[in-house]
Amino acid sequence: MRTLSCIKADVGSNAGHLRPTDEVVDAVASHLEREGDVLDDYWVFTVGDDIDLLMSHREGEDAERVHQLAWDAFEAGTAVAEKQGLYGAGQDLLKDAFAGNVRGLGPGVAELTLEERESEPFLVFGADKTEPGAFNQPLYTTFADPRYTGGLLLKDTIHEGFTFEVMDLDHTGGERVVELDVPEDSWRLLALLMEPHRFAIRKIRSRATGATVAAVSTQRLHNIAGEYVGKDDPVAIVRTQKDFPSPGEVVQPYGTPPYVAGAMRGSHHGVFYPVRSDEREIPSYYDGPPLVKAVGMVLNDGRFSRPVYPFDATFWDAVREDAAREFREFRERQGSFGPGTVESEELEYGGWADVVDSLDDRFEVTASDGTETVEADDD
Ligand code: F6R
Ligand code: MG
Ligand code: MG
Repeated sequence: MRTLSCIKADVGSNAGHLRPTDEVVDAVASHLEREGDVLDDYWVFTVGDDIDLLMSHREGEDAERVHQLAWDAFEAGTAVAEKQGLYGAGQDLLKDAFAGNVRGLGPGVAELTLEERESEPFLVFGADKTEPGAFNQPLYTTFADPRYTGGLLLKDTIHEGFTFEVMDLDHTGGERVVELDVPEDSWRLLALLMEPHRFAIRKIRSRATGATVAAVSTQRLHNIAGEYVGKDDPVAIVRTQKDFPSPGEVVQPYGTPPYVAGAMRGSHHGVFYPVRSDEREIPSYYDGPPLVKAVGMVLNDGRFSRPVYPFDATFWDAVREDAAREFREFRERQGSFGPGTVESEELEYGGWADVVDSLDDRFEVTASDGTETVEADDD
């Protein structure tokens, strides 16, 4: 068995929350190169201000040696970020010391254990300026909606359906998870996934083979820190082909990208914008749009092929153009009103609640016929 671990963190960026410098990324990657004996292979990439470490190994999920390695690599990056005076240096390393496993310490983790197939193709999606539930709609579309995934109708092993593990992100003290089988449970699944701030897909398994097909990082930074420390900026790993959806079925939902929570101050809605692999793709408008990068590879006896980047294709330029126009128009149309901003419980800053509280004394309560002032309730 082999495990793919994608562990990510924002440890500081140039010009604000835009992109880490090359020196920071190099410090992280050279730590893996120097100390990564436990790994069969690794690949480091960035999405906006986040650094994502994709690693293959035989240590299993939640393995101390692998998580320690990632933590130490992010600390090496933090040291450089601090020296360079970058913004938010070390911001996702929320605890002072490593404690056996990076879960609950700040970095996001998606891990998937597999029996390597004769050919083992997969895609990794890294996101910035959004939340774990951002992958709900794309993954539901791919794995549960036969209007889009032809394989669900055309190929027997895919037609058998998938089991979704869905996690309740509001629950603290243990992980509250439900398993739902599609197609039978697909409406119940959709009922949960339509609330992406609270429910997020953690894993998807094939019902035909029992294999895990997809894994998503489901940490909630503010549950860990108890205060705003940036959006969670999730990653997802999705195996493709054969008994699983094809790469085309996996990327198709991004062709008309959904709105997700994030962008400016992690507190607004924006188009989930599919980005190219290169450096031009940073948060560039309203601290957004929320970004998603796709990295495609095969795993070959534990080693990664050179990656391909599906969203680099010129086809996606048209998608980007539409999405940019759509997001700009949405921002201009809505401003802060209604769906322009996330629901008040989801705001990532405490300032709004303080403003509302500060007006308490200035509110007056009258009887509903408008004639008589009544005592306001103290609470
Ligand atoms: C969102 C994000 C940014 C910041 C914004 C303000 O994930 O990173 O939108 O929230 O740039 O940052 P502060 O308040 O730290 O100046
Ligand atoms: Mg950030
Ligand atoms: Mg980020």
